[in-house]
Amino acid sequence: MSTEGRYTITAALPYTNGPIHIGHLAGVYVPADIYSRYLRMTGNDVAFICGSDEHGAAIPMRAKKEGVSPQVIIDKYHAIIKKSFNDFGISFDNYSRTSAPIHHETASEFFKKLYDDDKFIEETSKQLFDPEAEQFLADRFVTGTCPKCGHEEAYGDQCENCGSTLNATDLINPKSTISGAEPILKQTKHWFLPLDQYDEFLKEWVLVGHKKDWKANVYGQIKSWLDDGLRPRAVTRDLDWGIPVPVEGAEGKVLYVWFDAPIGYISSTKEWATREGKDWEPYWKDKNTKLVHFIGKDNIVFHCIIFPSMLKAEGSYILPENVPANEFLNLEGNKLSTSKNWAVWLHEYLEEFPDKQDVLRYALTANAPETKDNDFTWKDFQARNNNELVAVFGNFINRVVVLTNKYYNGIVPTPAAFSEVDKQTLAELKAYPAVISSSIERYRFREASQELLNVARLGNKYLADEEPWKLIKTDEERTQTIMYVALQIAGALATLSEPFLPFTSGKLKTILNLSSSEVASTWNDISTKEILIPTGHQIEKGELLFSKIEDAEIQKQLEKLEATKKANEAENKEIEPQKDIAAFEDFTKLDIRIGTIIEAEKMPKAKKLLVLKVDTGINIRTIVSGIAEHFSPEDIVGKKVTVFVNLAPRKLRGVESEGMILMTETPEGKLVFLNPDEDGVDPGAVVN
Ligand code: MF3
Ligand code: ZN
Repeated sequence: MSTEGRYTITAALPYTNGPIHIGHLAGVYVPADIYSRYLRMTGNDVAFICGSDEHGAAIPMRAKKEGVSPQVIIDKYHAIIKKSFNDFGISFDNYSRTSAPIHHETASEFFKKLYDDDKFIEETSKQLFDPEAEQFLADRFVTGTCPKCGHEEAYGDQCENCGSTLNATDLINPKSTISGAEPILKQTKHWFLPLDQYDEFLKEWVLVGHKKDWKANVYGQIKSWLDDGLRPRAVTRDLDWGIPVPVEGAEGKVLYVWFDAPIGYISSTKEWATREGKDWEPYWKDKNTKLVHFIGKDNIVFHCIIFPSMLKAEGSYILPENVPANEFLNLEGNKLSTSKNWAVWLHEYLEEFPDKQDVLRYALTANAPETKDNDFTWKDFQARNNNELVAVFGNFINRVVVLTNKYYNGIVPTPAAFSEVDKQTLAELKAYPAVISSSIERYRFREASQELLNVARLGNKYLADEEPWKLIKTDEERTQTIMYVALQIAGALATLSEPFLPFTSGKLKTILNLSSSEVASTWNDISTKEILIPTGHQIEKGELLFSKIEDAEIQKQLEKLEATKKANEAENKEIEPQKDIAAFEDFTKLDIRIGTIIEAEKMPKAKKLLVLKVDTGINIRTIVSGIAEHFSPEDIVGKKVTVFVNLAPRKLRGVESEGMILMTETPEGKLVFLNPDEDGVDPGAVVN
């Protein structure tokens, strides 16, 4: 078990172009938090570092779309993100932001040092330029065909189809994402980090040094980049959003966002150290410090190739000990997407399930995309809660707490001699910290969470086999011993659950009254202390740790997603093309009048049809209308409608219909009478 080391643990700085969703949580923040909490509990000195990444290209783009300044966007999402992490129990030691002065300073100095040490190649070359927007194009500002795989929507920095890193000029048929214009080539000067010169170093460090201890998915990606050969990469950009390049002759240029953002880990550490009165340098420069980056798989190249090369070039920094990148989480079978609103947003979850942080933490951990992409479903979420947290963990604790209160007024009883089963059970319990530690230290958080649950299973099995509720009538002494043993298991759970279920752990410590130092246990105490909760200790009455999640709650979430899906379909729905030109005479043939619906009833055996009696002013006539799925008869009687009165009569299900009620449709497919002010009636909606 690792103890008394120094750890700098970073979690990818989220872009402030949207809130945090479950994909971010499962991939990065929940595992990073489990790891950090665990290391603190086992006596290590931990700096758990994060902050907002505020210079990404998506930010000015989102700002443009919303018609506000980038500052408004970053302030809005920084606030939402920071609060939601905090409310979710992500235990960052510091959450900073890359617009902070300390970060601008740190990133500028870093660049300046490499510049002064001649670590860059300065090159004037032709770059893509949007003649309409009058802006150079790189990264997300340009798309085109990937030269490696032929994918037609590759970006200027990366192809999301084959994972290749690209330079914007590599794209075939490039197109500006700002104006749609075809870019021209224009001369501009940039500074490049010659990654090719770090090839040997990277191979030695990762391929030889970390073959055994890095995750196979991470190792595999790095190897394929190194096999492809590295090329110099520009670390400056012609943009007006970012950190100005701090050298002469670089007016109007900023640092490449992927140059500044990882330096954000360092600036955030500095900010924390200043606040805590500590020295930041050992956390980044002492060879004994372990630096661990938690990221999603799309960030591997930046954390395993570019940033380490930057750190190496600078010369005084340590390199990451591990980069346990996760694969992606999908939601109900589809890729999570901020722009398509296909997500479970953390801040919304916290509003809808205000005391269920741990349920989401647990569901995401038990189903974490550690070795392959995984799917989050609300059904699985419900099952994890009802069948595992409620039925296993909660049930065990509840039995122990209720029985201890009932039999002993909440006072831990005196045990008699332990039976073989008792000894065996306590020995098994003492083995768990090492088992869970080993999983956590190998970044296998799913496995670790299941081992935690096994501790509760051990307790449940023990109680079910020993049946204290029967023995209480015949053997008081034996019952005391059983309850005493069960209480030790409950006490162990209070501690072992903390990295995974911090809120539950806190509640359980309150119920078991474990906050005073005589009874508080560390992680290692679980295996080394003879007893965790002594005879005579008073516990509380307690509340339930978990509660069942009903089908209706899950249904509500599924409906919310269904609505998103419909809205997306509607957004992508093509506006019907205009029909052929009609002569004025054609129009005058149509006789359209206002009428009042005076009777309405369902057409027998027809799902869609209503039979209406409509007062057209000319006469009262029968009109059969296909609106029965949208309106019930009683809702429309008395309504004024627009009627095409000289439509040739036709028989529908044997009833003659003399005219047509004109309607339109919302994007979700809801029929509405002609009242264009009604919600959801958009320009282009066809009247028919
Ligand atoms: N903002 C990036 C993303 O969401 C991650 C930045 S990580 C850092 O993909 F290292 F650059 F900070
Ligand atoms: Zn590709």
